[in-house]
Amino acid sequence: MDGNGRWARKQGKARHKGHREGVKAVRATVEVAAERGIGYLTLFAFSSENWRRPEEEVSSLMSLFVEALRREVAELHRNNVRLRFVGALEQLNDGLRKKIAESERMTAGNTGLNLNIAVAYGGRWDIVKAVRSLASKSAAGELHSSDIDEEVFASELQLAGIPDPDLLIRTGGEQRISNFLLWGLAYAELWFTDVLWPEFDKAEFDKALADYVSKQRRYGHTGDQVEATKC
Ligand code: FPP
Repeated sequence: MDGNGRWARKQGKARHKGHREGVKAVRATVEVAAERGIGYLTLFAFSSENWRRPEEEVSSLMSLFVEALRREVAELHRNNVRLRFVGALEQLNDGLRKKIAESERMTAGNTGLNLNIAVAYGGRWDIVKAVRSLASKSAAGELHSSDIDEEVFASELQLAGIPDPDLLIRTGGEQRISNFLLWGLAYAELWFTDVLWPEFDKAEFDKALADYVSKQRRYGHTGDQVEATKC
């Protein structure tokens, strides 16, 4: 969700106003995802590297997350959305951690859109954490190195049990992954748009989805093989 700061600058406003406007785009995006029957939506709200931002911006973002949860969770729950947070949540303040735990608990039984929010998340952090867990299991004699395959490895990641993303959307004009879901994105289709996150709307989301459905996903097969399995 990139481009909040630039959106604010364009309007002659402070950066935090851009993040605040970004919450509206989050709401619209969640609505479209639910309407379109998308099973899983994962939003990158705050990266491991975002801690390097000025203290004032970091603390206003943390307050905004608490406020957004306070305002939106009941509505998400009414709409059968299941909320999950991933990332180094122990790094967050007590107030935010409490709201996160409450909202996860409240929505745990919901069966509609699965909304994952990555906070204090980094793809490399996720991978290193998984390796550490496997190494501990191995040292404890619970696992042999030859038992480790892609499935076992993925079961240690933050989004274990959740299908790999089919589509990555990045707003704000940059064409990079910026340490998002490094493992899971292996076969994702990529959609980059110059639209700044606060201006990301239903029409732009639909453009990304239309591009996605036009792609032939081969996973190493030939195009003919893929066509043959459709018959
Ligand atoms: C990146 O834009 C955006 C962020 C670091 C914060 C994203 C947060 C929100 C959209 C707020 C709401 C989120 C939830 C889940 C309620 P940037 O600040 O790097 O923009 P710039 O590149 O234009 O400076």
